[in-house]
Amino acid sequence: MKVLFVASEAYPLIKTGGLGDVVHSLPHALHGRGLDIRLVLPGYRALLHQLDQVRILGWLDVRGAEGIHSARILETRHPDFAFPLWVVDCPPLFDRVGNPYVCAPGQDWLDNAERFTVFSRVAALLGQDALNLGWQPEVVHLHDWQTGLTAAFLHEQSNRPKTVFTIHNLAYGGYFSHGDFVRLQLPSHWWTSEGVEFHGGFSMLKAGIVYADAVTTVSPTYAREICTPEFGHGLEGLLQSRQSKLQGILNGIDTRVWNPATDTHLPAHYSASRINPGKKHNKRALLERFLGTTSDSQLTAPVLGLVGRLVEQKGVDWVLAAMTILLVETDARFVLLGSGQVAYEQKLTRLAKKHPDRVFVKIGYDEALAHQIEAGADLFLMPSRFEPCGLNQMYSLRYGTPPVVYKTGGLADTVVDANETTLADGSATGFVFDTPDVAAFLTAIRRALELMRQPARWRCLQQTGMRQTFDWNESAAHYLALYQT
Ligand code: ADP
Ligand code: GLC
Repeated sequence: MKVLFVASEAYPLIKTGGLGDVVHSLPHALHGRGLDIRLVLPGYRALLHQLDQVRILGWLDVRGAEGIHSARILETRHPDFAFPLWVVDCPPLFDRVGNPYVCAPGQDWLDNAERFTVFSRVAALLGQDALNLGWQPEVVHLHDWQTGLTAAFLHEQSNRPKTVFTIHNLAYGGYFSHGDFVRLQLPSHWWTSEGVEFHGGFSMLKAGIVYADAVTTVSPTYAREICTPEFGHGLEGLLQSRQSKLQGILNGIDTRVWNPATDTHLPAHYSASRINPGKKHNKRALLERFLGTTSDSQLTAPVLGLVGRLVEQKGVDWVLAAMTILLVETDARFVLLGSGQVAYEQKLTRLAKKHPDRVFVKIGYDEALAHQIEAGADLFLMPSRFEPCGLNQMYSLRYGTPPVVYKTGGLADTVVDANETTLADGSATGFVFDTPDVAAFLTAIRRALELMRQPARWRCLQQTGMRQTFDWNESAAHYLALYQT
C-alpha cells in the first residue's frame, strides 16, 4: 500500500514539538510493516541546508495570494529516513531564517495563509501523481491545520486517494480572514458553516475535519474530550456530528531515540533491572551542569524537571505557583527547559535568579538537555490543562522519572496514579490529579515526595513505568487497519 504523509515538520530535520517526533516515527513504523511511504515537507531554509543529494522531480505551478508560485519538487534520501522525502521548494514562502510558523514569539508569519495553502495545493497534486512519477498513493495522511486544505482540495476530485486527517492539537486552528480566502481564490462553495467558514473567517483545521474521509486524534481520551465545549474550541458541534469518522489512536514513542540504556546524550546508561548507579550519575551530571560541583548531600534533595513549550496549555502558571510554595516547604531543586510565551520565560528566569542554587532554567530549544532532564530528574512535571497525547510523560516513564500529570487527554491514557490499590497491584506509574488547579497539583507533588522517601516502593513505581512499551507497533497497526477500511 502506498501512503503519502503530508506534514509541516519532522524530526530530526525540523521540529517544534511532538508533531515532529510523530511524523518521524509513525511513517517508519508503517514502513516497517511493508507500506510504501513518501513524506512531503515544506522546503524551509534550515531543512534544505541539511540535505545532501537531491533530485528534482519536477515543477508544479499553483496559485498563491498574488499570482502563481512555481514550486520545485525535490526528492532526497536522508540517512535518518528509510523512505524517500519529498520537499516543496518555494523560496518566496519558505526560504527564510527562523521558526516554521512564527517570526517572533507569539507572532505568526504574516503570509502563513498563503504558505500553507500553497503547500496544501502542492500536496494535493502530489497525491494525484500530477508529476506522472508512476507513484499514486492510495491514502494521503495529513497532520494538523497546516495540511487541512489538502483534504479539501482532494475532496474536489473524483478519482482520488482517501484522506486521513490527524489532529495533534485542536488549539491551533489555522484561522485566517475572509480577505485571505478571497486572495487565495479558494472555491467559494467552501465558504459555508458546513465548509471551512468559522465565525467570519476560515479555519484550515476545520477544512481537514470536514473534508477528510477519516479524522483521528492522538489519544482516545482526547477524541472524546474535543466533542465537549470545554475542550472543543468551538468545533465541538462539528466534531459531534462527525463521530462516525472520528477515532483516537494513542501515539507511541521512538524507543531507539528514547532509551536510557543506549541514549547518546546521557553520561551514564541504565535500565529497569538496574536503575542505579546509572540514574544517580545522570542526576549528578545534571546538577553539575548548573552548579559546577555537587556534594553527596546535594544529591539527596529531589530534583523536579520540566521540558516543554512554555504556554498556557502546559500549566506553566501552576508550575510557577507550586514552585514558590515548594521552595519554602521542601529542599527540592528544579530544572526547567523550554521556550514560548515571553511572560512565562521572564517569570521563570526571575525565579532562577532569586534561587540560583535551587532553580535552574534554560530558555530555548536543547535536544540533549531534554534527554538529560528526563534521565537526571527524580520527578517530571507535566500538569497540562489539556494534552492531545503528550510524549514527554512517556519519555519520563521510560527514564524512571515518574510524571505528575493532570488527568486529561493522553496523560490520562498513559499514566496510572499511585494510590494504595495500584501500588499494591503493581500497576502504578506516576501521580495523577483530577481537579484543574494548583492545590490539586501540589497535593500530587507532595504525595510523590512522600513516596520517594520509601525507596523500595519508589523503585517499584519506576520499574513499572520503565517497562511500559509505548512502542509504535500497536498504534501503527491501528492506522493500518484504518487505511485498509
Ligand atoms: P507538544 O507537542 O505539545 O509540545 P509533546 O510532549 O507531545 O508536547 O512533545 C514535545 C516534544 O518536544 C518532546 O520531544 C520534547 O522533548 C520536545 N521539546 C519541547 N520543548 C523542548 C525544548 N525546549 N528543548 C528540547 N526539546 C523540547
Ligand atoms: C501536539 C500535542 C501533543 C502531542 C503531539 C504529537 O503538539 O500538543 O499532546 O503529543 O502533538 O501528536
